[in-house]
Amino acid sequence: MKQHSCKQLLSLAFIAFLAVTLHQSFAATDVPPTAAAPQTTALPPAPPARPERGNYTVTNGNGTVCLMARMGLQLNIRFSSASLNNTVQDVVNLQPNVTKSSGSCDSDSATLMLMADEEKTNLTFLFSLNATSSKYHLSGVILSAVWLDMSEPFSASNSSLDYLRGTLGHSYVCHEEQTLAVAVNFSLNTFQLQVQPFGLTRDQFGAAEECQLDEDDMLIPIIVGAALASLVLIVLVAYLIGRKRSHAGYQTI
Ligand SMILES: *[C@@H]1O[C@H](CO)[C@@H](O)[C@H](O)[C@H]1NC(C)=O
Ligand SMILES: *[C@@H]1O[C@H](CO)[C@@H](O)[C@H](O)[C@H]1NC(C)=O
Ligand SMILES: *[C@@H]1O[C@H](CO)[C@@H](O)[C@H](O)[C@H]1NC(C)=O
Ligand SMILES: *[C@@H]1O[C@H](CO)[C@@H](O)[C@H](O)[C@H]1NC(C)=O
Ligand SMILES: *[C@@H]1O[C@H](CO)[C@@H](O)[C@H](O)[C@H]1NC(C)=O
Ligand SMILES: *[C@@H]1O[C@H](CO)[C@@H](O)[C@H](O)[C@H]1NC(C)=O
Ligand SMILES: *[C@@H]1O[C@H](CO)[C@@H](O)[C@H](O)[C@H]1NC(C)=O
Ligand SMILES: *[C@@H]1O[C@H](CO)[C@@H](O)[C@H](O)[C@H]1NC(C)=O
Repeated sequence: MKQHSCKQLLSLAFIAFLAVTLHQSFAATDVPPTAAAPQTTALPPAPPARPERGNYTVTNGNGTVCLMARMGLQLNIRFSSASLNNTVQDVVNLQPNVTKSSGSCDSDSATLMLMADEEKTNLTFLFSLNATSSKYHLSGVILSAVWLDMSEPFSASNSSLDYLRGTLGHSYVCHEEQTLAVAVNFSLNTFQLQVQPFGLTRDQFGAAEECQLDEDDMLIPIIVGAALASLVLIVLVAYLIGRKRSHAGYQTI
């Protein structure tokens, strides 16, 4: 009897210990990653807080919404600073309350233009639709900026990108932070993104297609849960077998 309760206690302690360590390892993966280390010799500044999520829409000539995006945006740019007379790396959040959206939609291309900070920062997204495969993607990004400390206006663009791939009629969703490399001096971090550049019905997002990062993220709790469940099962079975054995032992005595 004494041996029993001891075993029970030990297995309980073991489960508790595993639960704690598993929970900690899970919690650790939950910490938002700090901005990707830029490949530069300049001192990387502390990244600002997560950007606020903005609602941006583009309406057609006849007033129907043809592109919709909800996302937090962070610009990661390298420019030459006038005051430091040197190249600096800067991470800047786009503030939705001072950002205006506009753009245009075509049958196979759509443009979202964001003008932030009194037109000192212009960010343009170009989406393309392949009518044959009914797939769309972000094909281009253009940034132009005239900030106080810039020794010259900044501009960077890339029109051969292949990001945010979705299916016509569906929206593309990525809750996790995503980094879209655009040019040597410019990358874009997106947060809690939902976008649909084509095939909106009644100004609503279509069914969501999750990005790989989100799917990987959902996999972690499933794996942890499964591991925990199988552990509990193993311990339970071991305990039952142990009890049966010792029970049989009592009978033979
Ligand atoms: C953005 O749109 C969503 C859904 O349409 C709405 O719930 C939310 O309040 C909007 N946010 C802002 C800041 O307008
Ligand atoms: C608005 O125009 C688009 C194409 O430009 C068309 O597909 C859509 O049916 C039009 N909507 C209305 C309500 O006329
Ligand atoms: C900026 O640096 C360059 C060399 O890196 C130097 O020639 C120039 O004089 C500097 N300008 C100022 C204003 O310090
Ligand atoms: C925009 O929002 C930020 C904080 O989110 C605030 O500090 C700033 O004053 C706001 N600007 C305007 C023009 O509302
Ligand atoms: C569109 O998709 C089809 C089928 O996947 C592919 O063969 C074609 O090359 C694509 N067109 C473009 C312009 O990418
Ligand atoms: C942004 O676009 C507006 C309107 O086209 C323009 O007046 C402004 O100069 C642009 N700003 C930058 C930084 O390019
Ligand atoms: C544009 O993006 C593509 C794909 O990410 C990349 O291979 C290419 O180097 C970029 N071009 C420039 C000019 O940065
Ligand atoms: C990118 O930065 C480098 C210095 O790091 C500079 O020489 C180059 O002109 C910049 N390119 C653009 C497109 O701003």
